Amino acid sequence: MASAIEIRKYDAIVIGGGGAGLRAALQLADSGLSVAVLSKVFPTRSHTVAAQGGIAASLGNVGEDNWHWHMYDTIKGSDYLGDQDAIEFMCKNAAEAIYELEHFGMPFDRLENGKIFQRPFGGMSKKYGAESVARTCAVADRTGHAMLHTLYQRNVYAKTDFLIEWFALDLIRDAEGDVLGVTAMEIETGQIFALHAKSTMFATGGAGRIFQASTNAFINTGDGLGMAARAGVPLQDMEFWQFHPTGVAGAGVLITEGARGEGGYLVNAEGERFMERYAPNAKDLASRDVVSRAIATEVKAGRGVGIDGQAVLLKLDHLSEKVIDTRLPGIRNIAIKFANVDPVHSPIPVVPTVHYMMGGIPTNLNGQVIDNEKVVNGLYAIGECACVSVHGANRLGSNSLLDLMVFGRAAGNHTVETLKGFSHKPLPADFADQTLSRLDRLDHQKSGEVVAEVGDAMRRTMQVHCGVFRFPDLMSKGVREIMQIEERIKSLEIKDKSKVFNTARVEALELENLIEVAKATMVSAEARQESRGAHCREDFAARDDEQWLKHSLHYREGNRLAYKPVRLKPLTVDSFPLIARTY
Ligand code: FUM
Repeated sequence: MASAIEIRKYDAIVIGGGGAGLRAALQLADSGLSVAVLSKVFPTRSHTVAAQGGIAASLGNVGEDNWHWHMYDTIKGSDYLGDQDAIEFMCKNAAEAIYELEHFGMPFDRLENGKIFQRPFGGMSKKYGAESVARTCAVADRTGHAMLHTLYQRNVYAKTDFLIEWFALDLIRDAEGDVLGVTAMEIETGQIFALHAKSTMFATGGAGRIFQASTNAFINTGDGLGMAARAGVPLQDMEFWQFHPTGVAGAGVLITEGARGEGGYLVNAEGERFMERYAPNAKDLASRDVVSRAIATEVKAGRGVGIDGQAVLLKLDHLSEKVIDTRLPGIRNIAIKFANVDPVHSPIPVVPTVHYMMGGIPTNLNGQVIDNEKVVNGLYAIGECACVSVHGANRLGSNSLLDLMVFGRAAGNHTVETLKGFSHKPLPADFADQTLSRLDRLDHQKSGEVVAEVGDAMRRTMQVHCGVFRFPDLMSKGVREIMQIEERIKSLEIKDKSKVFNTARVEALELENLIEVAKATMVSAEARQESRGAHCREDFAARDDEQWLKHSLHYREGNRLAYKPVRLKPLTVDSFPLIARTY
């Protein structure tokens, strides 16, 4: 059967055409390697396009700033679970990443003096927490959109090959465990290929679609994580999911934190500016876990608005129409379309909505995937699907786009160095067996489960059992339910067996990836008996550094959990006294 599969050879294959994938691919193509970017959608429709508020870097264009302060904020924001060498690397390289984008042609908003515009974002401070700082560089509220178009065009110029509307299915590993590429489906024809590569890089983004209410695009189905888990690679820190405080109530569409950065604020049903009680200093620009919990608490206390009193209001009507139209034009549009309110005149009803996966495939600073302290040869992961880990238990807004740029470039550079003088290893004879048996089962399943129904059950379970606040009984029930749902997924049936653009087949295969993410999340969350960052337990309300200052690793085989230490030693900053003091 495998002999019928067409094999294409590249030096490097990048799975995912969002910010991280495009940044890495550019580095590879510019070095003269043959590189293909495989993407389920046209690259400029990748989920990075939805990133609104901006990208962090201590440029100091609006007052004093430096990368040590950025590093401090990121470590503190991570609730100390972030690896400090990785955080230092990211914050130190941030300014260069921005100037590089500027030189690539990214149309950043400008200050009167011509420098790049920067706005305040949650948790970003100067002088180690003393006061808020404007550190987030932006293109109005369409920063990700501008970034994707800039990088896509640079890749076209660099002659990157694009496999558009292709779907990666399984990793190809040889007997030594080295990764030699992936199997993939061209969605238009249903044809299966092997992409044989010296280096395989996952940049598949997030997996917010394990939840019912998410700011994530429908394409965010954790494909890289599913492939990694099936290939025996662990998933790290999967209990940590960020709820963005301001998703449009009932729709989930993101309202950027930049709206609060521009001076917007939240009020409850009584018109009270409640964040003054929960975070007297940072107020509405406290970190996202804090703001999301505050909203959930207000709602629980009966001070919510809207259907079932589940929302609070985001007020922007005190900002001028000019500010809204200049800095937040997309937000005005979204509010009108999805909430039926014009924020120039009326507040927007918002709810905490799943936004970002802090965990992912474990990597080192070069983006190389790590299993059991060893590098998995030939495999890289970057961006949201990876866990390097710079975000720890809670990511600061606008550090995500930065992560994509800094580690996309680093992984590209490392690949270029590693591949010098390196030839393709031969594919093993059974390279397509796993993929072909998955497809074969789907093609022959009779009287099986309906994909949409099982997917709904999974999303409902995750939403109810693994939310902003986590309760012990709900979590153990959630683990049991997710395991039952996994059993149902083993007998998914699709009625349409045709080959051409068969989205039913794609959705079934995506669900097989999502369930790996859901399992790792539920099992890791139930096991972690403390509250840290976005993981907030009713029965273990405090952070417990004694027992739990460690990363979780979930292995698919036997749903096994292992743990590894947090890297607390920065790369070069010998003494970081203010951080140590906060422990
Ligand atoms: O609120 C936002 O614009 C989202 C930014 C982020 O998640 O980094």
